Amino acid sequence: MSKWIVTCAWPYVNYIPHLGTMIGSALSADVIARYLRMKGEEVVFVSGSDEHGTPIEVEAVRRGTNPKSLCDENHRKISELFKRWNISFDNYSRTESEYHKEFVKNFYLRLYGKGFVYEEEVELPFCPRCQRFLPDRFISGACPYCNFEDARGDQCDGCGRLLEPLKLLQPKCAICGSKPEVKKTKHWFFDFPKLTEKLKEYIESAPLLTENAKNMSLSLLKEGLRARSLTRDNKWGIEAPFPGSEGKTIYVWMEAILGYISATIEYFANVGSKDKWREYWFDKKCRLLCFIGKDNIPFHTLILPALLMASNEGYVLPWGVSATEYLLFEGQKFSKSRRIGIWIDEALEMFPVDYWRYVLLSTRPEGRDSSFSWSVFKELVNTQLNDTLGNFVHRVLTFTSRTFSSLIPAPRSSWVSEELWVQVLKRFSACTHNLDNLRIKDALQEVMNLARDGNKYLNEQAPWDLIKRGDVERASTCIYVCLNAIKSLSIMLTPFIPTTANEIWKALGLQSHVWEESWYEATKPLEPGTRILEVKPIFTKIK
Ligand code: MF3
Ligand code: ZN
Repeated sequence: MSKWIVTCAWPYVNYIPHLGTMIGSALSADVIARYLRMKGEEVVFVSGSDEHGTPIEVEAVRRGTNPKSLCDENHRKISELFKRWNISFDNYSRTESEYHKEFVKNFYLRLYGKGFVYEEEVELPFCPRCQRFLPDRFISGACPYCNFEDARGDQCDGCGRLLEPLKLLQPKCAICGSKPEVKKTKHWFFDFPKLTEKLKEYIESAPLLTENAKNMSLSLLKEGLRARSLTRDNKWGIEAPFPGSEGKTIYVWMEAILGYISATIEYFANVGSKDKWREYWFDKKCRLLCFIGKDNIPFHTLILPALLMASNEGYVLPWGVSATEYLLFEGQKFSKSRRIGIWIDEALEMFPVDYWRYVLLSTRPEGRDSSFSWSVFKELVNTQLNDTLGNFVHRVLTFTSRTFSSLIPAPRSSWVSEELWVQVLKRFSACTHNLDNLRIKDALQEVMNLARDGNKYLNEQAPWDLIKRGDVERASTCIYVCLNAIKSLSIMLTPFIPTTANEIWKALGLQSHVWEESWYEATKPLEPGTRILEVKPIFTKIK
């Protein structure tokens, strides 16, 4: 048994997350957290609301409210939505949590003490009309590297590079559109370049970085790291703790990224084992696994490891970083301002959560961008969930109840060599292997293929004909094997669509909740003679 810290990127709470955010972070992480728990591993799964920084301030200004009440309201809504999506967080925290603020301030004071933080006077864009400095999202312009026209002050959404606000071409204030002036101010910097060699070694030896994460990190290292500024002239945020830094706050990324630790601390404090978080974060064998969208790569593969290395306190570095590409909506980028996409609240008003989980996990942008479209949604729900999975389960259960009075029939002793059972074992090990390598989409494909194998086997065996011909023994064996395949399906579906998996589990007459079962239960046969329950169709086709 090993220890795991599973994390997903903390969503900014300026808006409700959209489906692209869901698949890139929380949903993918949830599948793996659930899978690991079923394997008997010790898992803490944490995330939270990213509440500080310019995205929230900009939105609060736009709505004429203050950041704190915007955050309170959205944090409450988003926490609730994650519950309805069945994301099995052990702790969904927030960066306004006292645990977080305390931890961050102390962490940076220790880095300061170790000589990794220095102050410097710099020139920054300042909006004469709004009378404020324009860091990060307060400024926009064209990217100096790729010319993407709507880059922000801290990062370009076109090429993913980290930017400096003064590097933007044709810069303008994001609030009022004015052309910024340049003004002097003092800031505190993290000595990132000092860690270049160590970071190279880390990237080259990290056990599980998706290819995009590895490539981008290596190319950023090759271009050369620059010191990153830790402070901002913003009011909304965590106060910078350095001597002389009064009135400044910590740059949102530099604190939110430490939330993985503070949320673990908070979780264990809440369950009454105050010091237990150390057994995770300071255990060399504990695996830290981060799920993110590709725009978050440099913060997880370079900045987080750099901060943890600089602290020299023995924190585990990310063992794995799984970065998805973009999920497009009907071929276009999700955009709140242009109203392109689907948001996670409205999705649930239209269809049951497992339809969404299934479709998103099946189209997970692994290795390249993928596109959500209504026609794909309909195809996956109607053909795969309903016709393939739903029908297999339904046909077998109905046959069992009609022909065997709802009792699981006893097979002949050679049942283990039946073709479908052989497929169960094969698909189970392929699914396991894929999940171990975070190939979530392929893992789910294996499960659906097993349902397909089930239908094929059932059609070929045609137990209804066997019964007509009086071959009850063969028919019993066939149905027994099909029921076992359904049991395996139910276990293997649990990380992906837990509610449906549990309905199937219950229909088999099994008492527990399927998510309390062991992953390896998938290959253990059912007890003949057990009574199955009444059967209802699990899915309905959509129009
Ligand atoms: N809020 C960021 C985004 O949506 C992600 C922050 S991840 C964290 O891009 F770990 F730093 F919190
Ligand atoms: Zn760019």
